Amino acid sequence: MGPLALISSSGQSHFFVPRQAGGLPLVMGNLVIIGAQWGDEGKGKIVDILARDADIVVRYQGGSNAGHTVINERGTYIFHLIPSGILYRGTTCIIGNGVVVDPGSLIEEMDQLQTKGIAVGKNFVISQRAHLILPYHKAIDRASEQSKGSRKIGTTGRGIGPSYADKMARIGILVGDLLNPQLFKNKLDENLVEMNWFLERLHKVETFQVDKVFDQYMGYADRLKSHIVDTTILLNRAIEKNKTVIFEGAQGTNLDVDFGTYPYVTSSSAAAGGACTGTGVGPTMIDAVMGIAKAYSTRVGSGPFPTELTDEDGRGLQERGREFGSTTGRARRCGWFDSVVVRHATVVNGLTSLALTKLDVLDGCKELKLCTGYRHGNTLYKTMPADLEVLTNCVPVYQRMKGWTTATTGTTRYTKLPVEAKRYLARIEELAQCRIDMISTGSKRAETIMLRNPMDCSRRRPKRSRK
Ligand code: GDP
Ligand code: IMO
Ligand code: MG
Repeated sequence: MGPLALISSSGQSHFFVPRQAGGLPLVMGNLVIIGAQWGDEGKGKIVDILARDADIVVRYQGGSNAGHTVINERGTYIFHLIPSGILYRGTTCIIGNGVVVDPGSLIEEMDQLQTKGIAVGKNFVISQRAHLILPYHKAIDRASEQSKGSRKIGTTGRGIGPSYADKMARIGILVGDLLNPQLFKNKLDENLVEMNWFLERLHKVETFQVDKVFDQYMGYADRLKSHIVDTTILLNRAIEKNKTVIFEGAQGTNLDVDFGTYPYVTSSSAAAGGACTGTGVGPTMIDAVMGIAKAYSTRVGSGPFPTELTDEDGRGLQERGREFGSTTGRARRCGWFDSVVVRHATVVNGLTSLALTKLDVLDGCKELKLCTGYRHGNTLYKTMPADLEVLTNCVPVYQRMKGWTTATTGTTRYTKLPVEAKRYLARIEELAQCRIDMISTGSKRAETIMLRNPMDCSRRRPKRSRK
């Protein structure tokens, strides 16, 4: 049971004691931030807030399939590859080895930021071990979706799956290979023989010419070379010097290739384990893992979604929550909060706390439903079924809760929340088996209730000042 469950019947929390004000110094640690549902939980907003206290923000998996929104007084930013800490001067942003990099899309993002006056220079580095996305990956992604018909995954079409497939098949081309033109060309030459065969014979689509792709990528190499380094050494040295690191997850636990609703998942380790394999930082260096969950559920693309609402309630959530994809613009499917899904995230990630976002979107709902389990035949599931057939055909078991009529939008203090909202949050803590550290009540930085700073998690180190 989490601390919010300690609220009294009047809705007053007995737990909320802000440590900053209480005399104990904050001791910042290394924090993994991950999605606890199917992505788009508001990771970008939370990373942006917490990056104020971080020396480094590192992305460890995924690619430009991600769309992380940050809104501050200077405008709206949607990050696909660049970590959401880039808006702070003095914070180094890293693309780790576990990411798949589309250099064209990355350069576009760097240019857009620079146009808005955000520096992307020495503060931004890319792992030489990260894998590249090549034009044939995107073509294969699109063609294979097409050929799947009604079984399609609904990918973002960014070439993510095919690039990770090449990595595992040991024919991937690394970001570091951009710095060795002959090696790059040899690998490209070999790969295109096979890829073009697939594209032409199987998928009956256009093929690629080695020279054209080579020239295009050498242009990218010129632009990116000063950013390509051994990020594993850099990160571990920084940690040795007590620098504070945020590991920024993309996607969500239920899109993780191992723990998600396979095969309707993305092709990387979005869960907390990926933070180690995707950066080369050992698990003993990580102090805490925070899961981000919306106060309801959404999903983009195909795949099982037990609490999905296809009625007025669902359309209401979609409209009020502006649930349209940050990367593809597709409408997100919406449904009630599913505690089976979030509890699964608590377990497989070892979550130490949760940030609950978009509470304001539930303002005005007369009644709310919380899914506490799934029924399939005579079986009641309290944990995530691995069987896709069960997940697709199960019926959610709901607990009904009274909604609230007063607006929570922009609320910054827990005590100001309506009592029904406090009860809803307390029940979520209980069902998710994880404490809530942050509550988000709007898309802007300030529209946040900080119950406890999750960065204050160091298990080992004395407080050091920032670099
Ligand atoms: P991410 O992929 O997890 O970073 O999430 P996205 O950026 O794709 O989607 C989250 C959307 O919700 C963005 O448009 C955010 O600006 C917005 N958002 C984040 N937190 C809140 C919140 O508490 N309330 C509302 N109304 N919007 C929020
Ligand atoms: P952020 O980081 C939501 C979904 C796609 C599709 C599946 C596989 O913004 O939370 P892919 O292109 O990765 O092979 O598609 O995963 N998906 C996301 N859904 N948010 C994301 O990222 C997603 N990234 C991929 O819609 O169902
Ligand atoms: Mg997103």
